[in-house]
Amino acid sequence: MTKRIALTGATGFVGGHVVDALMQRGFEVVALARATSNTQTIEKKGAKVRRVSLNPQGEIQFSELRAALADVNAIVHAAGGGITTDKRSLYAANTDSTAALLHFAPPSLDHFVLVSSLAARGPSDSPQPAKESGVDKPASAYGRSKLAAESLALAHPSEGDVVVLRPPALMGPGEYRLNSLYKAAGRGFVPMVHSEGTMSFLDGRDLATAICAALQREPAGRRDRFFVAHPKPITRRHLAEELGRLAGRKIRVVELPPALLPPVFTLAELAGRLRGKASQMSRDKLGDALGRHQSCDPRLAMRHLGWEPKYTVEQGLRDTFYPPA
Ligand SMILES: NC(=O)c1ccc[n+]([C@@H]2O[C@H](COP(=O)([O-])OP(=O)(O)OC[C@H]3O[C@@H](n4cnc5c(N)ncnc54)[C@H](OP(=O)(O)O)[C@@H]3O)[C@@H](O)[C@H]2O)c1
Repeated sequence: MTKRIALTGATGFVGGHVVDALMQRGFEVVALARATSNTQTIEKKGAKVRRVSLNPQGEIQFSELRAALADVNAIVHAAGGGITTDKRSLYAANTDSTAALLHFAPPSLDHFVLVSSLAARGPSDSPQPAKESGVDKPASAYGRSKLAAESLALAHPSEGDVVVLRPPALMGPGEYRLNSLYKAAGRGFVPMVHSEGTMSFLDGRDLATAICAALQREPAGRRDRFFVAHPKPITRRHLAEELGRLAGRKIRVVELPPALLPPVFTLAELAGRLRGKASQMSRDKLGDALGRHQSCDPRLAMRHLGWEPKYTVEQGLRDTFYPPA
């Protein structure tokens, strides 16, 4: 029985929900955190913290990571992300970190769960939600860094399970990447491209239960890659209207010509650089933003993991901005 879980990214949005879900199920959580990470909240919840680098340099850091993983039964890799304009740090956070964890994982590991992204598949011209059997065509360096991490994980020669989960855009308590859209909705005016394009969403709490479901299967040497999402995609217009409803405003969606996006994203990236803070809108994000549809079909995950998302998109969005006490 898998008991002690090494969790990366525990101080982030996804990781916070994973800590809660693991603790509720009686797992012992060992958070692998950077020297600079603020771990107060997760320590209060009962997680143990081991300070290590996921991009170790030199013998001392190698042996620190090896020692931190030596007694764990499973690894959940939920660290990383895509809000940076520096490609090297993108690959360091998403791909090289995966390589290091796999390299230093103990041979007896039961489970390795990688939190990847729908961006590893890339956007589509078809409204048909993406399925596992389709072809990956990531449109960003972020997506390519996730796809490279997935390939490393799925090729790992351990006898335990390796499960790659590909969530779409996330929502739920603590999610902050929808804030600018919510602000626009509060002003009653939401500019967007492809307003009839479809998007899948998943609540962070449901992603955490999918991760737990993967950990609760008896290890059998599986190599699985699943889309995890709420089964009902919505249109971008519906997203804007829902945010308007939450903000108490009837909103007007202003359809932008796609040709406007490159200069807007370039300016946002430059402005972010000047402020010393990476913008959510960057040239790397253009390919995904210009894509018409970003939806995926979670039925394979539901069947194989015996998992079901609990939160509708409307509920998850509400809890993003009005979190339950
Ligand atoms: N949020 C979404 O909509 C979404 C959608 C699809 C996939 N994902 C994926 O889900 C995972 C978690 O995302 P999130 O939403 O929880 O992001 P987040 O809130 O920004 O948290 C990121 C976490 O990763 C850690 N981290 C980042 N770079 C690291 C590095 N180089 N070394 C070690 N730790 C590092 C951060 O640690 P510090 O506390 O030290 O900064 C933090 O704990 C990411 O892999 C992301 O790509 C997210």
